[in-house]
Amino acid sequence: MPKQHRILAIANSKGGVGKSTLATNLAVEAALAGLDVLLVDTDPQSSSAVFAATRDEGRPAFGLVQMNQPILHRELPKLCEPYDLVVIDTGARETRTFRSALMAADSVLVPVTPSAYDIWASEDVFAVIDELSATRDFTTRVVLNQVVPRTKVAVEAMEALEEITEEQGAKLLDTRIHSRVAWKMASGEGLSVTEYRPRSPAAAELRALWAELDLA
Ligand SMILES: Nc1ncnc2c1ncn2[C@@H]1O[C@H](COP(=O)(O)OP(=O)(O)O)[C@@H](O)[C@H]1O
Ligand SMILES: [Mg+2]
Repeated sequence: MPKQHRILAIANSKGGVGKSTLATNLAVEAALAGLDVLLVDTDPQSSSAVFAATRDEGRPAFGLVQMNQPILHRELPKLCEPYDLVVIDTGARETRTFRSALMAADSVLVPVTPSAYDIWASEDVFAVIDELSATRDFTTRVVLNQVVPRTKVAVEAMEALEEITEEQGAKLLDTRIHSRVAWKMASGEGLSVTEYRPRSPAAAELRALWAELDLA
């Protein structure tokens, strides 16, 4: 019997919000949980592919495919057969590939950084989600990333986000990811933050995100 697979796209038309960071960390977290995972890198910048190439053999592994043409919605059903979970890392500018990724996915995670400017710039992605969800079901979840604690901008951003997510019928996750060096350092070594510093606050955030996404 073919596996029941979940397909999660990490998407935001804005660059630098943490799509690749969360895609790679979630792929590792899923592998650590014993799932067969495929990470699909649709960004010509190849951050996820570089992460996979940097990763030591012997670590919990995941499959990796690079695909930066808008054919994902056609190719993915075949590709994902052996996997429990497919995580798609999308690029910022490749609109057609990005739409194709969303068409292939059954849920979307939108990382957003806490600045009003970035939040409004993220409206593009919600417009595409809106359009596609007219014909099919998606779960759209939004996670705040790179939060600097106790800043006014973070509080204002939360308010703007709550408004947008409510309009969109999206879920704003309780888990918030803070700006922490561990996220950068771990990625540079091809490790998730849970592997890099298992007892760090960053690791606790990744575990909370994984649990809240409920993909196991
Ligand atoms: N929570 C975080 N704390 C610190 N640095 C982060 C965090 N999330 C992402 N970064 C860093 O921000 C930069 C952009 O992240 P990236 O995942 O490449 O974004 P995107 O894929 O959306 O362009 C990278 O240098 C990454 O290491
Ligand atoms: Mg990226």
